[in-house]
Amino acid sequence: MSAIKKVVIFGAAGNFGTPITAALVKAGFDVTIITRINSSSKFPDGIPVIRTEYTVEKLTAALVGQDAAVSVIGPAGISVQVALIDAAEAAGVKRFILDEFGWGPGFLSLPEFHDIGAQRRVAWDRAKDISQANPKFTWTGISIGNPIDWALKRFPTMGFDLKQRSALIYDEGSETFTGTTLEGIGQAVVGVLKRPEETANRFVRVRSIQVSQNQLLEAFQRVTGQPWEVKRSSTKDLLESGRKKHQEGAGGWILDLLVYQLYAPGEARCVLASKEDSDAQLLEIIEENADDIAQIVIRSA
Ligand SMILES: NC(=O)c1ccc[n+]([C@@H]2O[C@H](COP(=O)([O-])OP(=O)(O)OC[C@H]3O[C@@H](n4cnc5c(N)ncnc54)[C@H](OP(=O)(O)O)[C@@H]3O)[C@@H](O)[C@H]2O)c1
Repeated sequence: MSAIKKVVIFGAAGNFGTPITAALVKAGFDVTIITRINSSSKFPDGIPVIRTEYTVEKLTAALVGQDAAVSVIGPAGISVQVALIDAAEAAGVKRFILDEFGWGPGFLSLPEFHDIGAQRRVAWDRAKDISQANPKFTWTGISIGNPIDWALKRFPTMGFDLKQRSALIYDEGSETFTGTTLEGIGQAVVGVLKRPEETANRFVRVRSIQVSQNQLLEAFQRVTGQPWEVKRSSTKDLLESGRKKHQEGAGGWILDLLVYQLYAPGEARCVLASKEDSDAQLLEIIEENADDIAQIVIRSA
């Protein structure tokens, strides 16, 4: 495959789209943003923006001449993914990066997540089918595990209250999980587009760190130079509260059950890949330690 130069991104102002767009620009790609016709998203100066309706016909016109398309649309836009893929193929786009950025197709999720997973898989299957019929169209899914610096700041349920300097440790606090920083997520997209042959038609698995709550707590204490208050809870309570909310149709169940999956003892459910088995080295993603993560989080909080 010839080198990828022209890259279009959907969802460029989102949680992950922002660092991905910055990484693409920094890496020297010729970046264009596609956005919904009525979007109120704000984009960085100097990047061309195409506003369009998300029909296959209009998206195809917008995608002509692009080498690659990156979909980083939020969960609300799962249903438009197939149209993006169909339009990318029709426009002659060589690589489509799927809207994944989660735990990947083999992930052993709780049954409560199966409906969401099935919706996402429709687009993944579409890309796979098209690539088999048309070898000029290729795809990559990027699995990142826990978006660690972003998630630690955003979700106190993960156990770290940055303002109060207090931690909620579930069970023994020793279960490890893998995560990728926002910078690592941006680099993963850049790495895939720089290595199109090695990353064609598969899910890559990336990570910046494998870490436990105890290791993060120690790191936060070192980085802030003070002891943190420690409270205790259990993943069993999280599972029960998440399932109750789910059954009652109440909000908040997703976060409870996601954090349960992260820390459930002895399951290693959320270790996406060992350092050696992951694609982090191929894609030039820096391996961080707990202190690095604590510093990034405290600095930006
Ligand atoms: N691993 C994890 O724990 C984790 C955490 C968060 C997200 N993710 C995944 O990462 C991906 C991106 O999520 P995000 O949080 O970055 O997204 P986001 O910030 O919620 O949204 C990104 C962009 O999606 C577009 N969008 C929103 N609703 C849409 C709709 N109905 N139709 C079409 N476009 C729509 C908007 O772009 P415009 O305004 O420009 O149109 C928006 O700025 C998703 O696949 C998400 O599931 C994973």
